[in-house]
Amino acid sequence: MKPKVYITRKLPSEAVEKIKQSCEVRMWDKEDVPVPRDVLEKEITEVDGLYCLLTESLDEELLNKANNLKVISNMAVGYNNIDVEAATNKGIIVSNTPDVLTETTADITFALLMATARRLVEASDYLREGKWKTWSPMQLTGQDIFGATIGIIGLGRIGKAMARRANGFGMNVLYYNRSQKNETEKELGITYTDKETLLKESDYVVVLTPYSPETHNLISGPELEMMKKSAILINTSRGGIVNEKALYKALKENEIYAAGLDVFEEEPISLNHPLLTLPNLVATPHIGSASRKTRLKMADMAADHLLQALNKEKPDHIVNP
Ligand code: DGY
Repeated sequence: MKPKVYITRKLPSEAVEKIKQSCEVRMWDKEDVPVPRDVLEKEITEVDGLYCLLTESLDEELLNKANNLKVISNMAVGYNNIDVEAATNKGIIVSNTPDVLTETTADITFALLMATARRLVEASDYLREGKWKTWSPMQLTGQDIFGATIGIIGLGRIGKAMARRANGFGMNVLYYNRSQKNETEKELGITYTDKETLLKESDYVVVLTPYSPETHNLISGPELEMMKKSAILINTSRGGIVNEKALYKALKENEIYAAGLDVFEEEPISLNHPLLTLPNLVATPHIGSASRKTRLKMADMAADHLLQALNKEKPDHIVNP
């Protein structure tokens, strides 16, 4: 008998066909609507494998309904949507998709930094709204990137890729991480600091740490107060790392210069959210890894992990302790 698999969103056909070769597949066949909780609760009861996205919250209550589940393959590097401890206690393998999205996510992080520093979205709107009457000395002036100090919080794969980009732009690179990385420091010519020093000295503070109870609201009122008035905050990791109420206040009262966010506490962010009223915020809809090539690679990698586990092999990337 073929193993049963549930896929929680319409995937690129290549990945689905790959899984179908050896599994009985059911799929939530919509591209832009997440699978409703009650559907997932029903589907998870019998399946051997679950292929899911970061939009599905796989908590203990849901996992307790799974009678045969052997593997959860998450098509994302971040896996804060899954209660890994509960899965591990039930003997369920959990896998993610690191590496393939590193450079693509670093690209968007840098793009967001540049767009925010040089007010690209505001400038484009200015032109389209017919406000451009003449060239003027201080019109739409922003912040320089060359020669500025960037502080990277979280020196994982994407943090390092960001540091390489920053070097290419002639920036001075500081980083703060759980552990100091001497080899990487030498290789990239970057400097380790404590969090406070990083916040005080950086012109750009870039959040690239995974989301966990330890990093929840890592950037909140006191941290924003430590930052320079001219500083810019960029977050492409997970929304919960930055306290949005505190950020709104800091941006509104010009305690910091601007922010670029690709991730939010609640996704999609409500159109009524106060942050979206601010001209000094550049916001994108969680598109860090969204190049066609990278998303296809992620979809394929997650399919491979699912099949490896169902074949009783160890998937290439598992996150259980
Ligand atoms: C991830 O993989 O965790 C990103 O947030 C989406 O690609």
